[in-house]
Amino acid sequence: MESPFKAEVLKGKVALITGGGSGIGFEISTQFGKHGASIAIMGRRKEVLDLAVSALHSQGIQAVGFEGDVRKQEDAKRVVESTFKHFGRLDILVNAAAGNFLVSAEDLSPNGFRTVMDIDSVGTFTMCHEALKYLKKGGPGRSSSGGGTILNISATLHYTASWYQIHVSAAKAAVDATTRNLALEWGTDYDIRVNGIAPGPISDTPGMSKLAPDEINSRSKDYMPLYKLGEKWDIAMSALYLASDAGKFINGTILIVDGGLWLSRPRHLPKEEVKQLSRAVEKRSRDKPIGVPTSKL
Ligand code: COA
Repeated sequence: MESPFKAEVLKGKVALITGGGSGIGFEISTQFGKHGASIAIMGRRKEVLDLAVSALHSQGIQAVGFEGDVRKQEDAKRVVESTFKHFGRLDILVNAAAGNFLVSAEDLSPNGFRTVMDIDSVGTFTMCHEALKYLKKGGPGRSSSGGGTILNISATLHYTASWYQIHVSAAKAAVDATTRNLALEWGTDYDIRVNGIAPGPISDTPGMSKLAPDEINSRSKDYMPLYKLGEKWDIAMSALYLASDAGKFINGTILIVDGGLWLSRPRHLPKEEVKQLSRAVEKRSRDKPIGVPTSKL
C-alpha cells in the first residue's frame, strides 16, 4: 500500500531499530528508509541482518546492520556507538526486538520468564540507557534545542490477562511503564519524546506464527472486532506518525494498533434478539417493578 506521508518526513534522520531485520521491525526499517531516514538495524542473526540490509539497499535506502543481543549491555553500547560513527548522528531509537512463545504458567520455568523479561523489558531499557547520550538535546551531532525520539513496541496482552502469555504480559507491562517514565523524565530534562505502539495480531510476523499457529488461528478470528489481522504496514505507519514531526506534541503515549481487539469479548446475545428482549424487559419492569412493595401499586 502507498504511504499517506510525504516521502521526506524523516529526511536527514538516523534511526536505529532493534529486531529490525525481520517482522514488524523490518517493515519499520523499510518505511522509515523510504521516508528519508538512514537505517541501522540490530539483530542476533548475521544472515537475517545481511538479507535485510541488502533488501533495504535495493530500494535505495542507506542502511547498515550490526550484530548484537539487546540482553548484553556491551552489545547495546557497541551498536549505538557504531551507528553514531557510521552516520554521524542518532535521532530515532525503535525497540522492536522481542521474545515470545506460548506456555501455560505452570509449565513455564523461572528462567523462561526471566528470558523474555530480559529481552523485552531489560533490553528496551538498556538500549534507551545507551542511546541517551546521543538522543539528548545538545548531544553529539545534535543542536542544543532538539532532542531525538524513542519508540517502544509492546502489546495489549497485559491490559486484561492473556492465556499462556504470563511472561510476555509481564514484560510488556514493564515496557509500557518504561515508556511513560522515560517520557516524563527525559522529555522534561532532554527534550526526548518517548512513545510506544501496542500492536494487535499482525499477519506474516514471527510473533503471529508463534502465538497463533494455523492450528488455532482460524478459531481466534471469531473474537476479533474487525475480523481481520493487521498488517506490518499498519504498525510502520503508526511509527512514522509518532517519530516524525506529525507527532511532535505526543509524548508518553502508547498507541494501540489492534483494530479494537483488546476491547472485544464474545457476543452473548444475537443482535436481532436484543431489541425484542430489551423491550419485553422494560414492559415487565413497568408492569411489575422489582423492589416496590405491591401494596404501593
Ligand atoms: N515453552 C516453555 N519454555 C520455553 C520455551 C517454550 N516454547 N522456549 C524456551 N523456553 C524456556 C527454556 O526452557 C529456558 O528455560 P530453562 O533454562 O528453565 O529450561 C528459557 O526459556 C530460555 O530458553 P533458550 O532457548 O535458552 O533461550 P534463547 O535465548 O535461546 O531464546 C527465546 C529466547 C526462547 C525467547 C526464543 O524464542 C527467541 O529467540 N525468540 C526471539 C524471536 C521471537 O520470539 N520473536 C517473536 C517476537 S513476538
